[in-house]
Order: sequence, then C-alpha cells, then structure tokens
Amino acid sequence: MTRLVAGNWKMNGSLAANRDLLDGLMAVPGVEMAVCVPYPYLAQLLERPAGVALGAQDVSEFEAGAYTGEVSAGMLAEFGCRYVIVGHSERRALFGEDDAVVGRKARAALAHGLVPIVCVGETLAERDEGRVMAVIGRQLAAVLDALGVAAMAQVVVAYEPVWAIGIGRSASVEQVGEVHAAIRSWLAGQGVAAAAVRLLYGGSMKADNAAALFAVPDVDGGLVGGASLVAADFMVISRAAGGGV
Ligand code: PGA
Repeated sequence: MTRLVAGNWKMNGSLAANRDLLDGLMAVPGVEMAVCVPYPYLAQLLERPAGVALGAQDVSEFEAGAYTGEVSAGMLAEFGCRYVIVGHSERRALFGEDDAVVGRKARAALAHGLVPIVCVGETLAERDEGRVMAVIGRQLAAVLDALGVAAMAQVVVAYEPVWAIGIGRSASVEQVGEVHAAIRSWLAGQGVAAAAVRLLYGGSMKADNAAALFAVPDVDGGLVGGASLVAADFMVISRAAGGGV
C-alpha cells in the first residue's frame, strides 16, 4: 500500500515560518504526504505544494452548536482537510481525552469524509508492566465500538509509544515491528480488514532513522512531530518512505 508520511506540527508555526517550510516541500512519487497544522493555518494551507495533503490535529465529537472553542469535522472538510489526528497522547494526557471521546471523534471525522489518524500507544510504566497490547487493545476497542467493523478499516492507526515522543530517540525496530504486527493481528481478530489499514509509527522519527523504521514489516508510514518542522528533514523522511535515499 502507499505509505503515508504525516507531519504533526503541534502548536508550532507562524504565517512567515509556514511559508518558508512549505517552500521546501514537494511531492514524492509513490508516497502520500500530509501536514497536520493548527486550525488558524488551515486557510493559509489552501495554497500548498501539489501532492501534500492537509490535516488537522483534533476535531470536535459534536456536529455544531453551543460548544465554545470546538471545531467541527464539517469545518475541517470545508478547508480541504483529508486527515485529522485523533487521540494523540498529548490530548489524552494533558486535556483529559478518554478512549470513548477518541472513538466519537473518529466517528465524527469519518461522517464528513475525513480520515482519522487514531493514535495509540503505551507509557513507559505500562510497557514495564508488560501491558503494551492490553493498553493498545483497549484504546482500539473504543474506536471499534464507535465505528463498527467496516468503518474501522478506513482509519489510519498511528502507534506512538508515549516514551519515544519528542525525545530524539525512537523505539527500536524490534519493538516497532512487534507492536505493529500485534496491532494488525488484533484488528484481524476483531474481523476488521486489517491488511487495508495503514499503520504509522510515530515517536522521534527523524531523517537518520526513518529508512530503518520503514524497513520494518507492517510500518506503512510515519507520524512525524519535530522533524516535520524542518522541510529538509521532512523531505528525507518522505523519500525514505518511498524507498529512496
Ligand atoms: P516527535 O512527535 O516526532 O516529535 O517525537 C511525534 C508525535 O507526537 O506525533
């Protein structure tokens, strides 16, 4: 399947900085690229390099109405978003999002034709307790409950071990391979068309480790934080996803 490399800009950027960054991006044949930007910059990103898809970093579970501060899936669709990240560990840990909310957000996204990038992953304590797949299974089950088996095959799943995010050192290729295979077999075990689900790795994916991570079976792309803010690095990672150097 076509690999997806999605940049998660997080709460970074300015009109000027975004312009510079976008100037350095161009499509890579055979790879899907996306940038998930802060809401106010969606309008700026209406003009962007060809072949770079647009995404947001969160979405409301609600359709419309008295929900001050929320942004609906319909609004994101109107601005040309194809993707939206849901359930990022920062939202779970810092903003109190639980599994059920994440499931409802994924459902709201799909209802408007957006592809949810559902983030799952364990903390270091959970890994140390041997609960990696218990945690990820619980996170995925909530999304499956909200979507049903057929729609579940339309989501992108991003495995992001919380302990590898933003620290400069990714999980090892062995750890990534093990968890990705386990996620795919968990999905298959629930009756989901698991072979069709793109599984991204995220957590300190960088220019110098991307090729090794993409060589791992079941790694169908990357969710890239810090390195997505440097155009040259994001390009190296995207080319690595395409098998190039
Ligand atoms: P990082 O962030 O690449 O800076 O580790 C990844 C993410 O949180 O999506």
